[in-house]
Amino acid sequence: MDKRHILGIDVGTAAVKVFSGTMADENDIIINSIGLMPTRGLDKGVISDCNALSASIRQAVNCVIAADQIAGINAYLGIGGMGLNSLHCAGSVAPLSPKAITSEDIDRVCRSAVLAGVPTGLAALHVLPLCFWVDKERQTVIPIGKKGACLEVEVFIVTVPQASLNELIEAVQKTGIHVAGVVANSIVGTQALQAHDGGTRGIVVDIGAGITEIALYQEGVIYYSASLPLGGNYITRDIVKALEISEQHAEGVKRYYSRLDRALRGQAVMLDCNDYGTIDKQVSYDFLSNVIESRVEEIVFFLQEYVKGLKVDHPIDEILFTGGCSALPSFSIALEKCFGVQVKIKVPDQLLAEYAYPSNTACYGIMLHAAHHSARMELEFSTNPWSTFFKKIRKFF
Ligand SMILES: Nc1ncnc2c1ncn2[C@@H]1O[C@H](COP(=O)(O)OP(=O)(O)OP(=O)(O)O)[C@@H](O)[C@H]1O
Ligand SMILES: [Mg+2]
Repeated sequence: MDKRHILGIDVGTAAVKVFSGTMADENDIIINSIGLMPTRGLDKGVISDCNALSASIRQAVNCVIAADQIAGINAYLGIGGMGLNSLHCAGSVAPLSPKAITSEDIDRVCRSAVLAGVPTGLAALHVLPLCFWVDKERQTVIPIGKKGACLEVEVFIVTVPQASLNELIEAVQKTGIHVAGVVANSIVGTQALQAHDGGTRGIVVDIGAGITEIALYQEGVIYYSASLPLGGNYITRDIVKALEISEQHAEGVKRYYSRLDRALRGQAVMLDCNDYGTIDKQVSYDFLSNVIESRVEEIVFFLQEYVKGLKVDHPIDEILFTGGCSALPSFSIALEKCFGVQVKIKVPDQLLAEYAYPSNTACYGIMLHAAHHSARMELEFSTNPWSTFFKKIRKFF
């Protein structure tokens, strides 16, 4: 098995995207090729047909690798929706030796937080320590080597229902793909954008076809994430109804609209929205704009209400916007208006120009995560979820 060859698979609502890459070192990954297939069996982040979904994944993988070479390559799946949730938990332990805290103590305290806070039936996909205390004193760095009788931690955990996770992994493994890990797109996408570096406080917003991923970060730390059932498909479906055209045609009309100058509004401009087989789809710009803009505003309003509901006690400085829908300028404008902060459309800096599209952010994040973890991680979700978790934590430190 070539451990350096990795597949990153973003199981998106519109498309399964696959990056095939080679690990140069654990912080660097060279992307060799990319595969894309329309997704079937997944609606708004809920698996409706597991076999259809795994067949789409297999087809997307076949775009980058020959069928007889798939066996033995580590694949990492990135998911959104699917019951992902996030929570904060606290843990505490007495260090094994009061003379110095070791990495084993760090493992144990994080484990105690997961044990205390994650309900049965949920699997912890990401466990991100937020803060440590030694004998009630807040630590600014990881307290390895410090003396103390009581070690405490607050961790941020992303969970997924164990049953859904098992179902997905089993279905994908049946096709011959070896699933080495599963990650939340919101977390790896944010890490790929390096949004958590630096001192700013902000939100990464990834609006895809059916899911909006958000992650809040502050002073180098991701402290909240969510997968909301909102996306560009809602706009497409409204165009289908308003123009009485097929979904595929509506997708084309939406993309056409996204390239038009917004100054056309109020100018009585007629757009030719015909496709093969239609002749009656001359539509006024204002009409199409009303259909699209009202949906965009609704999605952004919902997002704003959701973030307000989190009652975050510090204002945000910026929004980093990514995902396929960032190609529609109306979203950036609505986000800027609603949140009152600067919105930057972002793609991971390290991505080569030929792959540098916002819809690839999550997939690249999966690859980076895989590069950090691939040598150590084996599939252990169903047998021993702890070992995977501890390996991740060890690696983190
Ligand atoms: N040029 C464009 N103009 C408007 N919308 C676009 C454009 N390009 C892509 N989109 C929209 O972006 C969405 C697809 O984005 P993306 O590939 O990030 O989704 P996904 O990852 O498959 O789905 P999800 O993350 O929701 O599960 C679709 O709704 C598509 O219509
Ligand atoms: Mg996506």
